[in-house]
Amino acid sequence: MGGQARTRIVIMNTLHLTDSQQDIKTAAAVIRDGGLVAMPTETVYGLAANALDGAAVARIFKAKGRPMDNPLIVHIADISDIERLSLTADLPEKARLLAKAFWPGPLTIIMKKGAVIPDEVSAGLDTVAIRLPSHPAARALITESGCPLAAPSANTSGKPSPTTAQHVIDDMEGKIEAVIDGGACDVGVESTVITVATDTPRILRPGIVTREEIEAVIGAVEVDRAVLNKLENNEKAASPGMKYKHYAPRAKVILVRSADKRYTDFVNRCYRRDGNCAAMCYAEDVDRIVAPTVSLGSKNDLKQQAQALFDALRAVDTIEGVETVYAHCPTTQGVGMALYNRLIRAAAFQVIDLPDKTIIGLSGPTGAGKSEVAEILRNLGAGVVYADLAARKAVEEPEVKAALCAAFGNVLNADHSLNRSLVARIAFGSKKNLKLLNSITHPRIVEIMLEMAADCKEDIVIFDAPQLFEARADVFCDKIISVLSTREKRLDRLVRRDNLRREEVELRMSAQYDDRFFIDHSDRIIDNNGTVEELHACVKEVYGRLTDGTE
Ligand code: TXA
Ligand code: MG
Repeated sequence: MGGQARTRIVIMNTLHLTDSQQDIKTAAAVIRDGGLVAMPTETVYGLAANALDGAAVARIFKAKGRPMDNPLIVHIADISDIERLSLTADLPEKARLLAKAFWPGPLTIIMKKGAVIPDEVSAGLDTVAIRLPSHPAARALITESGCPLAAPSANTSGKPSPTTAQHVIDDMEGKIEAVIDGGACDVGVESTVITVATDTPRILRPGIVTREEIEAVIGAVEVDRAVLNKLENNEKAASPGMKYKHYAPRAKVILVRSADKRYTDFVNRCYRRDGNCAAMCYAEDVDRIVAPTVSLGSKNDLKQQAQALFDALRAVDTIEGVETVYAHCPTTQGVGMALYNRLIRAAAFQVIDLPDKTIIGLSGPTGAGKSEVAEILRNLGAGVVYADLAARKAVEEPEVKAALCAAFGNVLNADHSLNRSLVARIAFGSKKNLKLLNSITHPRIVEIMLEMAADCKEDIVIFDAPQLFEARADVFCDKIISVLSTREKRLDRLVRRDNLRREEVELRMSAQYDDRFFIDHSDRIIDNNGTVEELHACVKEVYGRLTDGTE
């Protein structure tokens, strides 16, 4: 069979089979004929073909839209198959020990490949990944087919792995010959992948079989850097699958690392503000979240969360109007490592770290006296993060400078620092330019402000930010205070402070939100039309209420 060219007609109807003995026989005939069958395993559904038939295996890549350099796992029904079929040249002792401890089950072992393994399976590597699944339907299909089965997860490449037959049908209907419905998968995340072809065995993909469990059997193992970190552009992936964006729903996933209550408060503020987000959270938090939720199950039950994960990622796209999903970041210990590994890829490595601080946004129109209020708060014991300072840091970062040059042409000085006055001139030249500038700088400025807040020694941190709302920093604030004063007073202050002409000041002021906006979007307004003493007294009173918990 191997290698022989075969033309196939387009599959119009995928056979929907059960796991009955008769249906398994039908599916095995499809496999022997070089066809593709989606089968349940204890982890996720796999898309199976005869592993020793290169042409059949090539069709798997086509159906999934999978990059050809990403090798497949060979599934066997009995440990003796490895040597009987010469799948490897020699079976290392550590592989034997691991197989004995964890097979049949959700562990894949990579070892040197035998000559019978087609290049399509190993994607040109000199190793092969082998797994003995515990799911009865998978084992029955392998046995009945009479050959080992190459099977990646049965999803379209990049999408979440399928944990029900319906997920498979959603992705693969009309592209494969058959699907065996064996109900929902028990484990829910793919097998742990470990290589024993390196000096020290190394985990390339975490799963429900944990590092701790493996080390109890074969001693120390390494965890590949790519498991928890984003690879640099020049880094080679030990497991090719790790370099691709993965598990992603249509909506954008963002991981939020924070204490429980800070997470729910944050998601609620995002929802109230934008109305287009959902939360991927724990069952215990569902009732406290006003946004639509997708629950992963109980907070302390990592196995339950693993089981629910891919279904939850798919479910996100069934909620109307959701553009962003905030997922509460799991621990990286034990089974948590598998959850984190999948979620961080679904999020394309975008993580928000919420500092464990009470953050108070301080805003208001220019000239109203915000800086004075910040100074009083600082003297009362609050930490202060200045948005202007964060902005200055942001625009000296190479990525930000590159983005600004891409948008506005060369805006650097001879020494490669940013020509700030040139940027200011361009930005204030048109509304469009200003918007573009803000879309480049604001997200990074807010990130820096969060980092600065985390570094503060104080528990209460003030975000002194004239553009708190424009920069969307308001969603990170537990409370918002705005300082207001009359137009005349503001004009006077600015003319004196910044040495500007009245017309210039008026132009600046006209670009900002009016008092009504600040009143509607703040928890407290500080009126700065009175004396310095009155301002002090007012700030002190507000701060006192915030710190003693009455507000
Ligand atoms: O639980 C599972 O493992 C499921 C079920 C169907 O068995 N299968 C699965 O296969 O998740 P797949 O193809 O979606 O993921 C296999 C992973 C990929 O990241 C791939 O790059 C890696 O294993 N892999 C396979 N062979 C390899 C090899 N020789 N060296 C390094 N990585 C390998
Ligand atoms: Mg996969």
